[in-house]
Amino acid sequence: MNKQRGRLLIIDQDLVLIGSLPDMEIGFLCQQLRFYYPQIACIASCSVRESHWEPFLRNLGVWVISKPVQIAQLELLAVQLVRYHESRTEYPSSPAPPSAQSFAGLWPGAGQVQPILQPPQPPRSPREKHLITVYGPKGGVGKTFLSRELAIFFTRQKKDGQRLKVLAVDFNLDLGTIATSLNLARRPNLYTWVQAIDEQLAELVRQEGRDPEEVAHAEWQEFSALLRLSPEEVERYVVIHPESGLHVLTSPQDIRHSFEIKDYHLYIILETLKQSEYDVILIDTAPDTTDATIQALFFAQKVVLVGNHVVDAIENIQRMLKLLREADYPEERIEVCMNRLQRKEMFTLEEIRAFFQLPPGKLLYTIPDDAEVKRSVNTGVPLMLAAGRSQAREAVASLGRVLIPSLFEESEDEVQSKTRKEKERSFWYKWFHR
Ligand SMILES: Nc1ncnc2c1ncn2[C@@H]1O[C@H](COP(=O)(O)OP(=O)(O)OP(=O)(O)O)[C@@H](O)[C@H]1O
Ligand SMILES: [Mg+2]
Repeated sequence: MNKQRGRLLIIDQDLVLIGSLPDMEIGFLCQQLRFYYPQIACIASCSVRESHWEPFLRNLGVWVISKPVQIAQLELLAVQLVRYHESRTEYPSSPAPPSAQSFAGLWPGAGQVQPILQPPQPPRSPREKHLITVYGPKGGVGKTFLSRELAIFFTRQKKDGQRLKVLAVDFNLDLGTIATSLNLARRPNLYTWVQAIDEQLAELVRQEGRDPEEVAHAEWQEFSALLRLSPEEVERYVVIHPESGLHVLTSPQDIRHSFEIKDYHLYIILETLKQSEYDVILIDTAPDTTDATIQALFFAQKVVLVGNHVVDAIENIQRMLKLLREADYPEERIEVCMNRLQRKEMFTLEEIRAFFQLPPGKLLYTIPDDAEVKRSVNTGVPLMLAAGRSQAREAVASLGRVLIPSLFEESEDEVQSKTRKEKERSFWYKWFHR
């Protein structure tokens, strides 16, 4: 390494390591670099706060690593990158960048595990993926109900003629109730997966010549940054809701098991989910600010903040919004939903909007208080699958359409065929009513 300007390290004239700069978002900086110097290889080291840039950076052809950066990891990556770029120069027609597996040989446990190094890759599947976290900083406001209904709603939608593949994840690790609310068993569950992850991490540690018993928490975090699981692995740990086909990654059966789930497990799980084949992933959370919740918020493309019309729920949403704004969390990812709305409420929606300081044009979504909800929670039959009318169901469906608008946009062909059918209908209507 021969030059350092602020947090921009020019490793040599072919390779740049980009860290966080005070005045510029890492994504914009990398975009400029790739535009003006496409021949230079870029590595971006992202903090958790910058992790939302990762897909964007990878699409730009930037290599992404997570902070804290390990010097050994960097050196290995630099060697590989230089080799890779040399091979590209020698063989200009060489195909896409090497996959993560081709780097696995660099690391202990080659073949089973892959390092954190994220070579720029085209997305695994051409289908869009939607990651939605449902959160409310107060207990009992309807997060689990809403997560369940949204998840079932999405299982009933199609993209390109195919039903969506949907996963609901219970990140309320100790007291989650998604499984109960769908009459599902809690085995396998997140803890079953965590045990399997621990075995792989321990193997990795042993291959480094270390004793897993002597590894400290911070070191486990480092080792977990080297572990890459296969995205297909997720399906081993889900239970399937037979009536809808929804896959559910439930919280542990035994509350004590939730204490064994550490921040680095959650990181590996979320990273793996991000690569999985699910079209929609819905994460239900606990009313807290633990690692599980914060990681789920930063992992999501959309967050539904749920509250009720009571002053403590409203205050906590406002405090949470403030925290997220201070962390530069992109506000456009957040939708606020007031659940259990009654005919007469003490605060108007306008007052609540003003209190939350929502930007102009940003809507506040509502779900009415509906007696059917209690029945559906108690019977384990989601409103989305129940017969009969329900106002709450309609409201959840409207929210679902807002969360993934692309699913509901009509193609040009569909619009034309609809107009044609309407014309035909009006002809027969006139003919019969002459
Ligand atoms: N729109 C609604 N109308 C009527 N009752 C509702 C509505 N939404 C939720 N409820 C009731 O509120 C109760 C709590 O809902 P839920 O368990 O989804 O809350 P939660 O926010 O997930 O709670 P926790 O913070 O404990 O995880 C449910 O038992 C359900 O009966
Ligand atoms: Mg809940």
